[in-house]
Amino acid sequence: MLIDIVSVFPEYFSVLDLSLLGKAQSKGLVEVRAHNLRDWTHDVHHSVDDTPVGGGAGMVMKPAVWAECLDELLGLEPQDMPQVDPTAELWDEPVQDSAAENLDDTAENPDDAANPDNTVDSADTADSASTAGTTDVADTVLIFPNPSAPLFTQRDATQLSHARHLVFGCGRYEGYDARVPRYYKARGVDVREYSIGDYVLNGGEVAVSVMLEAITRLLPGFMGNPESIVEESYTGSNALLEHLQYTRPTTWRGITVPAVLTSGDHGKVDRYRRDQALARTADIRPDLIEKLDCAALSKADRKTLIALGWEVSGRNPRKL
Ligand code: 6GU
Repeated sequence: MLIDIVSVFPEYFSVLDLSLLGKAQSKGLVEVRAHNLRDWTHDVHHSVDDTPVGGGAGMVMKPAVWAECLDELLGLEPQDMPQVDPTAELWDEPVQDSAAENLDDTAENPDDAANPDNTVDSADTADSASTAGTTDVADTVLIFPNPSAPLFTQRDATQLSHARHLVFGCGRYEGYDARVPRYYKARGVDVREYSIGDYVLNGGEVAVSVMLEAITRLLPGFMGNPESIVEESYTGSNALLEHLQYTRPTTWRGITVPAVLTSGDHGKVDRYRRDQALARTADIRPDLIEKLDCAALSKADRKTLIALGWEVSGRNPRKL
């Protein structure tokens, strides 16, 4: 996987040379290139921002600088927006193209052209639960961190881990000119805008490192123990928070781990952990319980949820 990151603080990304991502780079699994947006400016001050049209506080990043940079990284010839509808306003645009729409881009996605039936590859059949929807990604994806965008989820991370080339554009100040993502969408690029949570950061750099860590750890060969990915929170269609974990000693500072975990009865341990995952999720993230598919729950799961005060006879659980 090739990862291009554009930022006015490219030095920030030297941290990516550390730890597991650093190891993945030396193994040749990923190549990360951090670029300075100012390298695409032509004025003496290397300015990348200007005041907002219509007034207001802060500065907005200029579209022309971004376009020179992104054209080069994406291998596109500079040209005006295709099929400009002069009556269309920016706010008429859908916030985020549904992933399914990107599947139609056979023209600019050689992988899809070679695979016209969109048949799933081996990675998708291996674990259909945790890789559902992963073919809904292009060969190259342009990603803009944006606090006013849809939330980045494990599903997005899984999808993006199947792309060959990711290009991240980090905004600073009040963000980037809204015509930039719109333009590259019109040029047929798979463009995504994501927020990483409901709080404000000074720029997209931290958000990009968060997204990159979530994406790259899913690459085949990245993790020492791939099974730990299958078991963890937020993976699969029935996403729950994980059960609590303990290690030795079984009694520490007067606190003994739950007896069932030392019983040696693996069936009981599995049930205990599953019940704990359901109970913790119902308590901390009831929104995740509401998204479960009742038909996919075991009898024992349903019994546990009923005992926790949920109704499980409909399509999704409902708190009573
Ligand atoms: Cl993606 N960017 C910024 N600047 N702030 C954020 C964010 C992104 N996600 C949450 N807060």
